[in-house]
Amino acid sequence: MSAEPLEIHLDDRDVADSLRRDVRVGLSAEAKWLPPKWFYDARGSELFDEITQLPEYYPTRTERAVLAEHAAEIAELTGAKTLIELGSGSSEKTRLLLDAFTRRGGLGTFVPLDVSVSALRGSTAALAADYAGLRVRGIVGDFTRDLHRLPAGGRRLVIFLGGTIGNLLPAERAEFLARMRAALEVGDWFLVGTDLVKDPSVIVPAYDDAAGVTAEFNRNVLRVLNRELGADFDPEAFDHVALWDPEQEWIEMRLRAQRPMRVRVLDMAVDFAAGEQLRTEVSAKFRPEGIAAELAAAGLPAYRFWTDPDGLFGVTLARA
Ligand code: AVJ
Repeated sequence: MSAEPLEIHLDDRDVADSLRRDVRVGLSAEAKWLPPKWFYDARGSELFDEITQLPEYYPTRTERAVLAEHAAEIAELTGAKTLIELGSGSSEKTRLLLDAFTRRGGLGTFVPLDVSVSALRGSTAALAADYAGLRVRGIVGDFTRDLHRLPAGGRRLVIFLGGTIGNLLPAERAEFLARMRAALEVGDWFLVGTDLVKDPSVIVPAYDDAAGVTAEFNRNVLRVLNRELGADFDPEAFDHVALWDPEQEWIEMRLRAQRPMRVRVLDMAVDFAAGEQLRTEVSAKFRPEGIAAELAAAGLPAYRFWTDPDGLFGVTLARA
């Protein structure tokens, strides 16, 4: 089958409004920040795909190995008829699950949801071509807003891979999980990938690679603001910073101004002191007992937890 036309839950005006709101709030704050979702224009999605292939960036290949090991079991345990993927990106690792469901039989529909139209166009066309008989329904949407609009019924498995849940702050995460639970019916399943706490000497290089791809990815958010809002950031005047916070157990990406700058964006003049840092992403790392507790608190008790032999990355299957 060919993929169905993308279902758009984010119109251009919503997106533009929420970008303006985020920029206004984040860049006028005492400690400047921007939400990580604005990295992912077409170029940012490409750079992220490059990151996933870097030697230092272990999460993607480790999660892939865990999924490869347990895909058949996931298909068997869940018996899903509909597979829904939040923040699907290229859906590349999802093929392991689709392959397992193809062998088992019974999966009728795949629903990838992402904010990136370009990523969805590519993934839905490729998947529809490669999985004959699978209905592929891409949804352009934001997983923090559009969960109540997921297709209903039919024994569903919702997957949220890559450790993307770690981009939410703790309070946002609790809210997200509560909404996730509310969107599910008893007996539906939720599979979540989480990067695990480990020595920072392993984590930090994953966010500060030698080839500088992550630095480019980080600066890309400034290019998005320049293009979408007519801002006048000089991205080259910001250095990439990746910082491990041992209290919060998360990594922060920041952009550090090399010199004092005044940037025009919207109707604001935003001043940066030399060395001032703009936080662009939080990527939380988890402990197995912490994940289980957060899921249980949201009414999604963990059913299985899998990890790789080195305990780098966790995949948890929870049941509503
Ligand atoms: C896709 C959000 C999980 O936090 O590791 C990669 C994004 N940022 N390198 C992550 C990212 C910097 C990634 N997630």
